[in-house]
Amino acid sequence: MAANVRAYEDLERERFKEQGCFTPTSIDQVTVEESVNELFETFFKLVQIDPEAPALLRERHISFLKKCLTHLSVAYECLDSSRPWLCYWILHSLELLDEQLQPRELSKIVQFLARCQSPEGGFGGGPGQYPHLAPTYAAVNSLCIIGTEEAYKVINREKLREFLWSVRSSDGAFHMHVGGEVDIRGLYCALDVARLTNIFSDDLFDLSAEWIIGCQTYEGGFSGVPGMEAHGGYAFCGLAALSLLGRESLCDIKALLRWNVNRQMRFEGGFQGRTNKLVDGCYSFWQGGAFPLIHRILSQKDGSVVKLDHWLFHQEALQEYLLVCCQSSSGGLLDKPHKPRDVYHTCYGLSGLSVAQHFSSQEGSTTCIVGNPNNELAPLHPVYNIGFEAVMNAQGYFQGLGPLPPQASSSADALSDAEPHASS
Ligand code: FPP
Ligand code: ZN
Repeated sequence: MAANVRAYEDLERERFKEQGCFTPTSIDQVTVEESVNELFETFFKLVQIDPEAPALLRERHISFLKKCLTHLSVAYECLDSSRPWLCYWILHSLELLDEQLQPRELSKIVQFLARCQSPEGGFGGGPGQYPHLAPTYAAVNSLCIIGTEEAYKVINREKLREFLWSVRSSDGAFHMHVGGEVDIRGLYCALDVARLTNIFSDDLFDLSAEWIIGCQTYEGGFSGVPGMEAHGGYAFCGLAALSLLGRESLCDIKALLRWNVNRQMRFEGGFQGRTNKLVDGCYSFWQGGAFPLIHRILSQKDGSVVKLDHWLFHQEALQEYLLVCCQSSSGGLLDKPHKPRDVYHTCYGLSGLSVAQHFSSQEGSTTCIVGNPNNELAPLHPVYNIGFEAVMNAQGYFQGLGPLPPQASSSADALSDAEPHASS
């Protein structure tokens, strides 16, 4: 189903009104709206002569991503301890764009990720680096996207389970690495890899749902740790983690929905990460990706939403922001106009675009494609943020291997809350 773009005349009333009160925050907001408005103006002229505008620059994004597999600019130097993330952001973007890599290229990535696996279990940010939950998530998700036997066989599940126990805290939260910080990302990363590789156990995640709920704030979103500010990145982690635990009912869903809906910017159409901050393309997924999870909770709770055929946010407006304001003309997506493109914003911009294009519920699925019908991306699994088939195939493979043998007596207790031995 082709979707209508918003009318330019209607957008003016959605602009931020300073009402004579100028602050650094309001000035930044007006500046961003000005740069967005320039692009919207050009776009609304273009759409008069090309009703299939805006177009997704698919081939350019693919070329940019493929180049980044082997050559990265100096700007990526700071991501030397996040190399599995680079693999994940590129592989997931390519799968959304329906682009297959050659088996030889995939095998090289698998071999690289194998070198990032630690003898202690889990994956580090690069070969020889200490294991950390964030690159472990990125590596396991990447290997599941690749989905070959060679890829699955890299993952040492016994050692991965030991690593998860080594970063578990007795209150149900997880440290990002041994001796490292605790936050809600850790729990989501641990649950994601445990569920994908079939090493989940109730005792490993005992008290985790209660810990997550302690992070839901007075605003309705989730913070990184109890008592802090709600933020889209953390809210996604909290909600997806509750869903992986099957404990979504613990969450105050009305408050979460209210907070999430209000993070969509009235004029720009994209999402901000937290109250009173600026729009950013990556929140298209961190905030937009929460809606399929919210929809599922509401459907279970209250039959009335089941009849909807769209998510509870403005799907067309988000697509306009991404297609008109976040595409680099030479490929790759960005945070906001005048920012440089990068693979992180390419991955989460495309992930958000996919969510905005595909509605699905128990009753069926509908598409909502702004612009050219060829803009349609592959759908994604909103809990793991990899393709549906990739999730099904990986879970099928690891379930086929059966459960792991029980851990050696009380090794789990000995490992939980272990003394820090390293930082990374
Ligand atoms: C604020 O940045 C950003 C955060 C407080 C954390 C963001 C968390 C994520 C994106 C989730 C990560 C998820 C996993 C799975 C590791 P900022 O102050 O620069 O941005 P802002 O002004 O938009 O809030
Ligand atoms: Zn961003």
